[in-house]
Amino acid sequence: MDYSAKLKERIETINKALEEYLKPNYPQRLYEAMNYSVFAGGKRLRPVLLLSACEAVGGDTERAIPFACALEMIHTYSLIHDDLPAMDNDDYRRGKLTCHKQFDEALAILAGDGLLTFAFETIFGVLLKDKDYKLTQAAALIATYSGSGGMLAGQVVDVESEGKKIDYKTLMYIHDNKTGGLIKAALMAGALIGGANSDTVSSFEKIGYNLGMAFQIKDDILDVTSTTEVLGKPVLSDAKNEKQTYVSLYGLDNAQQDYETLSEGAVKMIKDMGENADFLAWYAQSLINREK
Ligand code: IPE
Ligand code: IPE
Ligand code: MG
Ligand code: MG
Ligand code: MG
Repeated sequence: MDYSAKLKERIETINKALEEYLKPNYPQRLYEAMNYSVFAGGKRLRPVLLLSACEAVGGDTERAIPFACALEMIHTYSLIHDDLPAMDNDDYRRGKLTCHKQFDEALAILAGDGLLTFAFETIFGVLLKDKDYKLTQAAALIATYSGSGGMLAGQVVDVESEGKKIDYKTLMYIHDNKTGGLIKAALMAGALIGGANSDTVSSFEKIGYNLGMAFQIKDDILDVTSTTEVLGKPVLSDAKNEKQTYVSLYGLDNAQQDYETLSEGAVKMIKDMGENADFLAWYAQSLINREK
């Protein structure tokens, strides 16, 4: 099986569906700004994880597409707001000017709000037609892990910790929520949509914890070791904002070591799920050497 080709195909499926959902409408500037940020680039990590977790439990990935798109909308909203002057104040994202630089701050805030709301409109569109309780569970889970039970909570503690010395527990809380939140949501919702039972969903929560933690440690590493050209976003953004990261607290070598241990732990857990999870295992493995 050519997994790279399969990944490309999966990303194309997601992009096509996103284009369909985000077709221009009135007010034109709102749709322009939402489309600008969604289609600026991006790895499509969360939707790929969602579809692949659905596949890993033997589910029909077709059914998972609207949820995968919704998650990418939520993720893109989180990036637009993360880059605002009141937050990380960054000028580049996905290789282009950030939303507030390309448009203006008001529209960037509103485009973020627009994407968040549209994500749930997309999900409700499915729930209105399909009464499968597991889909409703997946929707509720995405709401919790995106909001004050996940990403949003992590972002709040992240911003409030700027310029302060934080302990290991707080850093883990930030990583597990601001980044782990949507990654856990992707895996657990994908599994639910695929019909998984609660034990399997719990296993995906553990995998998501490891993967999310690893993903943010690597993001912190790349912030000091990479270049703006490769990343498509500014480097040294964390130091600029006096953020304590895994790298600033424990050093590059420890960060790299713990990153690998966490990633390998996630890959092993996925492999234990059987052959339907082969693609997901390959994908998680491929993230270990990611350069952006
Ligand atoms: C960036 O996420 C924000 C973090 C949680 C580290 P990604 O690295 O997945 O960004 P895109 O979607 O590829 O732009
Ligand atoms: C952001 O973490 C996580 C989000 C929820 C957006 P960072 O602030 O480190 O992400 P980047 O480096 O700007 O992508
Ligand atoms: Mg941030
Ligand atoms: Mg940032
Ligand atoms: Mg970062």
